[in-house]
Amino acid sequence: MRSLFVCCVRSVIMSSQSATIIRKRQSSDLAAFRAVVSKARNVVILTGAGVSAESGVPTFRGAGGYWRHYQAQDLASPIAFRANPSLVWEFYHYRREVVKTKQPNKAHLAIAELEERFSKENKNVCVVTQNIDELHVRAGTKNIIELHGTLFKTQCTCCQHVAKNYDSPICEALAGRGAPDKNVPEARIAIELLPKCTEPNCGGLLRPYVVWFGESLNSETLCKAESELEKCDLCIVVGTSAIVYPAAMFAPQVAARGVPVAEFNIEPTPNTLSFDFYFEGPCGLTLPPALMP
Ligand SMILES: NC(=O)c1ccc[n+]([C@@H]2O[C@H](COP(=O)([O-])OP(=O)(O)OC[C@H]3O[C@@H](n4cnc5c(N)ncnc54)[C@H](O)[C@@H]3O)[C@@H](O)[C@H]2O)c1
Ligand SMILES: [Zn+2]
Repeated sequence: MRSLFVCCVRSVIMSSQSATIIRKRQSSDLAAFRAVVSKARNVVILTGAGVSAESGVPTFRGAGGYWRHYQAQDLASPIAFRANPSLVWEFYHYRREVVKTKQPNKAHLAIAELEERFSKENKNVCVVTQNIDELHVRAGTKNIIELHGTLFKTQCTCCQHVAKNYDSPICEALAGRGAPDKNVPEARIAIELLPKCTEPNCGGLLRPYVVWFGESLNSETLCKAESELEKCDLCIVVGTSAIVYPAAMFAPQVAARGVPVAEFNIEPTPNTLSFDFYFEGPCGLTLPPALMP
């Protein structure tokens, strides 16, 4: 069947918050997209919370976006942590424990399989994710840039040491804490009982190794992502609302230099019109057939 063209047929230039959006003739033709995949040698797959939604990890902007009566941005900030580290640690303890019970879904697996297949042909797939749940890694993805850190690392607020941490609970005082119900009283854990640095002569308070609202991305991580984006000849955007910067501007920048970009989402985003391909629906259903050999 001929391609199904959606949305725009004219090329117009319109300004957005980030960059110039160049509207393209857009396609949802699976066969045409698969032909582009088969020719690509350097693929960047940019993912957001939506890729983990079908694993049961709530997105921030969906219905499951609340913890107690807080929204994520109320707690995922350095100000919130300074004001109430106990509350912020309850929230992150809850998120760590929830993610441990979840499994990678068909979208994570299809992405990992593409990387494996491409690597045998000396071709490159790099996942650039905003997610902090490590589900891509658990699915088998090896070449990954975790832009916003991970739930399973900590950073010391004194010596800045970063360490992997899969402990459950992360400290005794958080055992049984962090329930999301809005009527649950705060645990109000004393700082001495919250997770502590074990580096010699330190003992500083640990924080989750995640990039919070109002914080900058690690510059080395950002450089790595930019270099992958500069050399890619195909960019696939999966389950991101394209609201959180700087990740939100990555795919429009790739599209602006004429490289094909395909988006997989359950609904259009502010950048959708600047992309060559748009596939609507849950990515666990739409992505596997699009990436299979
Ligand atoms: N799993 C996680 O690690 C996780 C979860 C929540 C939030 N976050 C953080 O939240 C920030 C929010 O940005 P974001 O853009 O990643 O998430 P977001 O919550 O802002 O947007 C999620 C996007 O996914 C789409 N989506 C939902 N279900 C989908 C599905 N089944 N298939 C395809 N698309 C689907 C939504 O339409 C939306 O565009 C990021 O910084 C991220 O670190 C991470
Ligand atoms: Zn320390």
